[in-house]
Amino acid sequence: MNTRTFFFGLFVAFGLPWLLLIGLPYGSLKALEPRVLDEDGLEIFPPPPRGLILHGHRVYMAQGCYQCHTQVIRPTYAGPDRWRFSGETPRETQPLDFLHVGPIAPIGLQRIGPDLANLGYRTEDASEIFVRLYDPRALHSWSVMPSFSHLFDKRRIQGQRSANALPLDTVPDGWEVVPTFEAKALVTYLMSLRKDSQTEPSENEN
Ligand code: HEC
Repeated sequence: MNTRTFFFGLFVAFGLPWLLLIGLPYGSLKALEPRVLDEDGLEIFPPPPRGLILHGHRVYMAQGCYQCHTQVIRPTYAGPDRWRFSGETPRETQPLDFLHVGPIAPIGLQRIGPDLANLGYRTEDASEIFVRLYDPRALHSWSVMPSFSHLFDKRRIQGQRSANALPLDTVPDGWEVVPTFEAKALVTYLMSLRKDSQTEPSENEN
């Protein structure tokens, strides 16, 4: 092997990847200014989900709710989404809304069911969500939402009825249905869904 081939090989193996992965991106991004999000020079980010809400987020992803539900209020040009203007300050969804919820953001695959981005604004009663998860057809006979009854315990009433037993007509006398820890976390998460933190849209958004 002559020296020229050797150095050419060296360039292809190391120089080219360096150029493409470091050199070019650096060249095209170095002109960007750091983002300053408010007048005092402070950056405001939505708070990371914690505790029960974080666990509920994981249950949401694990149960595949995102296959039928989105969590995105689209920009006005892309479609007339509900819940953009109601509540206190709902707004269009921005990339920062998904900052802490990785590795997969619950953007959703398709809208077979309603968008849940601002569910917390329109739901006052958590027990309605529990009933829906246990038996979606109890609320709407036409619903195509599957039952998530595996997140609940159906058991004989021991002494007194539990305070958190679901208000269902379909349960036989002497029995009750109570949410498991997973179901409670999931509903806490759903009730917390509000896309309203005061963040600025990113610069390349229009
Ligand atoms: C096969 C698709 C499908 C899947 C999977 C699914 N849903 Fe649904 N969901 C629907 C449909 C359709 C509706 C609207 C009809 C109705 O009210 O039942 C709905 C309605 C809802 C509503 C009421 C929304 C509103 O605007 O009031 C909530 C809350 C909800 N789903 C939560 C969930 C959660 C949480 C999961 C995962 C555990 C889930 N869904 C999984 C199809 C689905």
